Amino acid sequence: MDFDAAAATWDDDEQRARRTQAIAAEIRSRLGERTYHRALDFGSGTGALSLLLTDRFDEILLVDTSPGMLAAAAGKIAAAGPALAARVRPLPVDLTSHDPAGRPEPGSVDVVYTSMALHHVPDVVRLLRTFHALLAPGGLLLVADLAADADGSYHGHDEAFGGHHGFAPADLRTALSAAGFATAEVSTVFVVRRAVDGGERDYPVLLAVASRVP
Ligand SMILES: C[S@@+](CC[C@H](N)C(=O)[O-])C[C@H]1O[C@@H](n2cnc3c(N)ncnc32)[C@H](O)[C@@H]1O
Repeated sequence: MDFDAAAATWDDDEQRARRTQAIAAEIRSRLGERTYHRALDFGSGTGALSLLLTDRFDEILLVDTSPGMLAAAAGKIAAAGPALAARVRPLPVDLTSHDPAGRPEPGSVDVVYTSMALHHVPDVVRLLRTFHALLAPGGLLLVADLAADADGSYHGHDEAFGGHHGFAPADLRTALSAAGFATAEVSTVFVVRRAVDGGERDYPVLLAVASRVP
């Protein structure tokens, strides 16, 4: 998918909006009552998820490699006013690259969350290790992503797609453990319904919650 081209209308999809709300509600409940200093939203897109969580963090970094997505996010942040703009910042860095330029300091992030972006990353364990390094001891990682899609039909229409066809819970746990995270709880947070081959198909979205052991 061309995320730059999709950015202008990304927030118009009603089911996507409900998915984002469901993920935000579950993240909110997993965070508990306390507020945290800094969050990083990996593959933030237009920032829709983070804009539902601004009361839980002093600062949120919206990390995305799509200039179009980050421009859409910046427009929404600017419209919300300078107080929010001082706390929610688009950050155009690629955490999958070998170049550490522009990244937050290691150990400076309290919570990393990501929605529907991990399956676009070829080397998942390497990225999870990067999240581990960015997180402070005791920090939390919440990964919302597509459950294993055995026939690849979720991305079937997208010939350019080169990522993962979702994740089985056991594979997510293994990858998180390989990256140094403590036991991950994995649950279903939403079910996407799509028209496929003349019928309708359900695609569960998982939420994995893991912590960086102090
Ligand atoms: C399917 S969209 C999800 C957007 C948003 N999180 C949501 O739930 O609607 C995947 C996002 O991941 C971003 N992305 C893909 N690879 C990335 C990378 N290596 N680093 C940062 N963002 C990436 C894309 O630009 C896109 O905005």
